[in-house]
Amino acid sequence: MKLTVNGPINEYYVQTLCLLFFPGSKFSKSDNAENEPQANVTVYTVNGGATAKVDLTAAGKSVIKEYTEPENGKWDERTLCRVACGKAFFAAGKALLGITPQWGILTGVRPAKLALRGLKSGETKTDVKNRLTKEYLLSPKKASLVTDIAYVENKIISRLGKNTCSVYISIPFCPSRCNYCSFVSFTSAKLLSLIDDYLIRLCEDIKSIFYKIHSLGLTVSTVYIGGGTPTTLSEDQLRILLSVISSCVDVSSLEEFTLEAGRPDTITEGKLAVIKEYGVNRTSINPQTLNNAVLEAIGRRHTAEEFFAAYETAQKSGIEHINTDLIAGLPYEGFTSFSETVDKIVTLKPDNITVHTLCIKSAAEFANNKSEICNPYSDTTKSVDYSRLVCKNYGYIPYYIYRQKNTVDNLENVGYALPGTEGKYNIYMMEEVHSIFSVGAGAVTKLVAGEGENIERIFDYKYPYEYLSDKEGEKWKNKLDTIDAFYKQYFL
Ligand SMILES: C[S@@+](CC[C@H](N)C(=O)[O-])C[C@H]1O[C@@H](n2cnc3c(N)ncnc32)[C@H](O)[C@@H]1O
Ligand code: SF4
Repeated sequence: MKLTVNGPINEYYVQTLCLLFFPGSKFSKSDNAENEPQANVTVYTVNGGATAKVDLTAAGKSVIKEYTEPENGKWDERTLCRVACGKAFFAAGKALLGITPQWGILTGVRPAKLALRGLKSGETKTDVKNRLTKEYLLSPKKASLVTDIAYVENKIISRLGKNTCSVYISIPFCPSRCNYCSFVSFTSAKLLSLIDDYLIRLCEDIKSIFYKIHSLGLTVSTVYIGGGTPTTLSEDQLRILLSVISSCVDVSSLEEFTLEAGRPDTITEGKLAVIKEYGVNRTSINPQTLNNAVLEAIGRRHTAEEFFAAYETAQKSGIEHINTDLIAGLPYEGFTSFSETVDKIVTLKPDNITVHTLCIKSAAEFANNKSEICNPYSDTTKSVDYSRLVCKNYGYIPYYIYRQKNTVDNLENVGYALPGTEGKYNIYMMEEVHSIFSVGAGAVTKLVAGEGENIERIFDYKYPYEYLSDKEGEKWKNKLDTIDAFYKQYFL
């Protein structure tokens, strides 16, 4: 799609607005193929407010819409420009294509943040819902969802002590790659053979990061070992990793200790016994779907029966909380099949159920998937609505939410929990309430100060072989220096 942007507005933000109406688009400034959509966006400030003009062309039709957001005494210039631009774009897209994005002009990963901020500042739930529909054009349904989630999050966050943080440990390996996966993970025999060396370096970094955390006077609330698939590690490898963690922190003092297992074909009684022995109290056993034909088509390499067996093994292991991940909108799966999966999962009564919506990786896949962008009557929307209803009927509450670009029907990912079993790390990470110190290839450390208004990200090497080849740990030393500088600036 051809996109031109003028004025004080971030081009990336405008691209995310385009994706609401033209999912999967790639952007260029030059003339493109005939019939490709075009957007010209101009934003300017005037009398303390902001005005945006959006000229949208698609399929031989054009629409121009203008919107002015007047000064309101609470928003800075950047926010005024973004809201004006979002509303003009929303009006143009709606007029041109007849589409009403359910998330209004909210394009970010963390849609509950605004609601949380409102509740923290003393707004009632009704105030927040009304404000989100009026100021950000959310549908009443989405406004209610994020407000309900923010309400649960607020209660949990308000119990968090001062000077806390969390630790994330990355195991970016899987036994094989699922076709749909949008996460970084390595599966080739050559890379899997690096796991022993990877663990040696990882354990050094774990010791170093805990030392740093203690020297800064911080308390670790939660530890999360994620992937990839951490149970790709053998029993012995898991023991090495977990024993190092328990030598660094009293795991019984943690609020939560998660090891995301995930793929049923990596789970054994022996591995779960080791995980339990070292104090892990939360894990995931993920079917994605319980339809064997769909599992085969998406390259998942396990069956529904293997999921049930792994789930039973996890229950017997005594690990306190089990989460199950599902994906709505998978190729070859419609409403009937997905709803049957949901019906079967709730009868198992896992503490947590996370319902993702398929995130599509390429424009070509959008065409194959026949995504209808944000059609409130589509099969995937029906599937997601159904999961929400069934979870509610079985006593689950939605407790965390995140969005990704290019998801089918512009839908979201929602974590449900039986009350009292919410995954705390998910909330702390998503709402950026404290620093997350991360280790391993692909890990991103996020330093947070104040109420989240000062955030600094530190990226580790993406690939395991890069991570291992930095023998002197140059990047690691820089990371520790950045952490020191941040804490000196904001906390001393
Ligand atoms: C980091 S993955 C790890 C889970 C584990 N390896 C497994 O597959 O069971 C976390 C979850 O993200 C979800 N996921 C991965 N790729 C996705 C995609 N393209 N769209 C939506 N959800 C996705 C799946 O539900 C998956 O369980
Ligand atoms: S096992 Fe999980 S992380 Fe690995 S490829 Fe499949 S979905 Fe992605």
